[in-house]
Amino acid sequence: MAPAAATVAAALALALAAALLCAASAAPNDDVSQPPVTLGLSYDFYKRSCPKAESIVRSFVQDAVRRDVGLAAGLLRLHFHDCFVQGCDASVLLDGSATGPGEKQAPPNLTLRPSAFKAINDIHHRLNNECGANIVSCSDVLALAARDSVVVSGGPSYRVPLGRRDSPSFATQQDVLTGLPPPTANVPALLAVLSKINLDAIDLVALSGGHTIGLGHCTSFEDRLFPRPDPTLNATFAGRLRQTCPAKGTDRRTPLDVRTPNQFDNKYYVNLVNREGLFTSDQDLFTNPATRSIVAKFAQSQKAFFDQFTSSMLQMGQIKVLTGSQGQIRSNCSARNNPAGTAGLPWSILDLEEADSLLVF
Ligand code: HEM
Ligand SMILES: *[C@@H]1O[C@H](CO)[C@@H](O)[C@H](O)[C@H]1NC(C)=O
Ligand SMILES: *[C@@H]1O[C@H](CO)[C@@H](O)[C@H](O)[C@H]1NC(C)=O
Ligand SMILES: *[C@@H]1O[C@H](CO)[C@@H](O)[C@H](O)[C@H]1NC(C)=O
Repeated sequence: MAPAAATVAAALALALAAALLCAASAAPNDDVSQPPVTLGLSYDFYKRSCPKAESIVRSFVQDAVRRDVGLAAGLLRLHFHDCFVQGCDASVLLDGSATGPGEKQAPPNLTLRPSAFKAINDIHHRLNNECGANIVSCSDVLALAARDSVVVSGGPSYRVPLGRRDSPSFATQQDVLTGLPPPTANVPALLAVLSKINLDAIDLVALSGGHTIGLGHCTSFEDRLFPRPDPTLNATFAGRLRQTCPAKGTDRRTPLDVRTPNQFDNKYYVNLVNREGLFTSDQDLFTNPATRSIVAKFAQSQKAFFDQFTSSMLQMGQIKVLTGSQGQIRSNCSARNNPAGTAGLPWSILDLEEADSLLVF
């Protein structure tokens, strides 16, 4: 190439790069500010140690969700449960515990999908084969698999900062009950739980939009059907729910989003406006004046929902993360590497006082 042409080419490349940069910073979020990335996490964390990490997770999730659409919901919920209990440290994946039942045995766990636990272990196994054991953390796999599940279901994509490390300590049942609000919670109770992890009303409404995919058991909303229908339920909808759940204790499931059960879209909010939310924790977002206008906005604008969802997920995915030399990188996501001598670490301290009446599951 002649020098002049090379200069022109270089100038063009620069202009193009500048244009792309501008597009990249302006496109994803017009008015939603992005939360900062925690020190110790970065977007290219595995660039050298496991460059294919993200593509391995993505192709696994794509294939597996094609075979079982419900797996996307299972994976998204697993990441949420992980982050809300003791931080995004993969404690949700641990089998058993040091002293009696662990996080997996706590009531909310009982409805996590076995297929999602298996998928995480299978993905991690592939990563171990590709890059070596103890390179990619289980907590990062959870965060990536949740994002890819959203994307394959039709939702927005977003970049996931990586470098989380895995907990060497178990969460307790009490941690789970304290961290995860029940479906019977109303907005004040939900906000009380979320405020402890620095999430606000907008995050609550946006993250609850995860209920645009997946299923719930009758037992999670039967209090709204018996002895008589909750007046905030549309009567036609309540009648249909009673066909699925004819009596208390029915062991069946129904879609969380009655309009588009497997599509990640803003129809969840349209349901709420039409009084067709499944749980009290869903419907109260529209009933309560503190959150009503946010629901109305997301029902009207899928873009507004997607922009806020990606921002809130970015924040949720960084709750109390372990970085640097904290914690460990498990070689088996279901078990700690070194069970001996790990007691008494600061992040295993319980706050039993946080348990209150809303935690009856
Ligand atoms: C805000 C408080 C929340 C409450 C009270 C709540 C409660 C629940 C309950 C009770 C179920 C159904 C369990 C069952 O009966 O089988 C469920 C399912 C689900 N939740 Fe939530 N959730 C909340 C927040 C979230 C968040 C933040 C996300 C993700 C961003 C999420 C994603 C899901 C998904 C995808 C399912 C379906 C799981 C499946 O089909 O296997 N939830 N949630
Ligand atoms: C916790 O949930 C997972 C998935 O459903 C399951 O494999 C595990 O056995 C559960 N723990 C208990 C005690 O049920
Ligand atoms: C309840 O939903 C049905 C459609 O499923 C609709 O025809 C009816 O008008 C709704 N009722 C109220 C009170 O909004
Ligand atoms: C991983 O750990 C679990 C729980 O201790 C154990 O049951 C399982 O066999 C382990 N998997 C492998 C591949 O070692």
